Amino acid sequence: MGETKQTVAVLYGGRSGEHEVSLISAASVVRNLDQNKYNILLIGIDKYGNWYLQQENQLHRCRSGAAALEIQVDEQRRVSVVCGGGTKETMRTPATGPLAVDVAFPVLHGTFGEDGTIQGLFEMVNLPYVGAGVLGSAIGMDKEVAKILWMHAGLPVVPFISVRKQDWAALEKRKQLIERAERDFQYPLFVKPSCAGSSVGASKAPDRMSLERAVADALLWDDKVLIEPFIPAREVECSVTGNERPEAYTPGEIIPTHEFYDYEAKYIDPDGAALLIPADLTEAEFRTIREIAIKAYRAAELSGLSRIDFFVRKDTREILLNEVNTMPGFTTISMFPKMCEASGLSYPDLLDKLIQLAVERHAQRNSRSYSYTNGSTNGNRP
Ligand SMILES: Nc1ncnc2c1ncn2[C@@H]1O[C@H](COP(=O)(O)OP(=O)(O)O)[C@@H](O)[C@H]1O
Ligand SMILES: [Mg+2]
Repeated sequence: MGETKQTVAVLYGGRSGEHEVSLISAASVVRNLDQNKYNILLIGIDKYGNWYLQQENQLHRCRSGAAALEIQVDEQRRVSVVCGGGTKETMRTPATGPLAVDVAFPVLHGTFGEDGTIQGLFEMVNLPYVGAGVLGSAIGMDKEVAKILWMHAGLPVVPFISVRKQDWAALEKRKQLIERAERDFQYPLFVKPSCAGSSVGASKAPDRMSLERAVADALLWDDKVLIEPFIPAREVECSVTGNERPEAYTPGEIIPTHEFYDYEAKYIDPDGAALLIPADLTEAEFRTIREIAIKAYRAAELSGLSRIDFFVRKDTREILLNEVNTMPGFTTISMFPKMCEASGLSYPDLLDKLIQLAVERHAQRNSRSYSYTNGSTNGNRP
């Protein structure tokens, strides 16, 4: 065919509470990347944030069915990132010298992976990367900021009161916040950190005493916490891909067997939740959710991919936006790829699309002007 293969650097692990989930997500991604189209470089990031180029045998292990990637630590293969190196020398290791990479695929969840920080690094190096950009990733990480933007766009969200650590520490302010929550909402309430994931620090508060405890618990995970009414709702999710013209796929539903979709239900209890794709909704509800998902994606400056999560109230069937994940779980049994599959987009085709979107967005950014005096500043030295 004469076409040269693209080299994709798959980054996984990371300095995040969701490190282990990433090891599984990345193994699925690697298994589903078409070997005829891509060379894969595996870069494992340990829990301290060190990057290591992995040996070929990791790829073989993964392709022969290992459920999770591992991280081989070898100082000779420690990766440094080269600013201004262009695609010919994006990264290097002592053992290999310069590494040419065409696209980075950060299969990283949570902090330092999904929050705009690694995206900023790729922007500095001028490397195409899969997923949302700096701003979209940062917005997606902060539930309060996302909701403010969605409200501004006229989209339906769960109402909230945001609590800052320093205000909670001041007793008079704390009293006012509690009074406001009790005036605006009714118990039971729901409390969660603004910037966290995997339901860590999230809990239901049936009364004032448990509210105080719930806020204190959530503040262990973030300096900003949201108090919301507890919504008795079904949990519906919608995959979206795209840059300027986002597409939404068939929504699916999570049916937790716990009181809410807590950490246990997500990762520990094998019967913690049932997944239903498509969700049990009417045609009109499907349409509404897909429309809102696309509007929410745009309002939060997203690109590449995202999973937009909704509540559908059990009593009134009102549809409310809950949150967005810019690098959702990506295992073969995860909702994101499954919902794409339900709309006819296979996992390998989905990966092709995400890589294509990364390249397109990069080209778009490089077509802008960055200098008055120098015609070409696209990262590849003349
Ligand atoms: N206002 C709410 N009412 C009822 N349940 C909620 C509410 N907010 C969150 N939850 C439950 O907590 C889970 C985790 O909250 P979520 O906002 O999705 O944060 P994350 O998944 O990032 O930890 C949700 O899937 C849902 O089960
Ligand atoms: Mg969630």
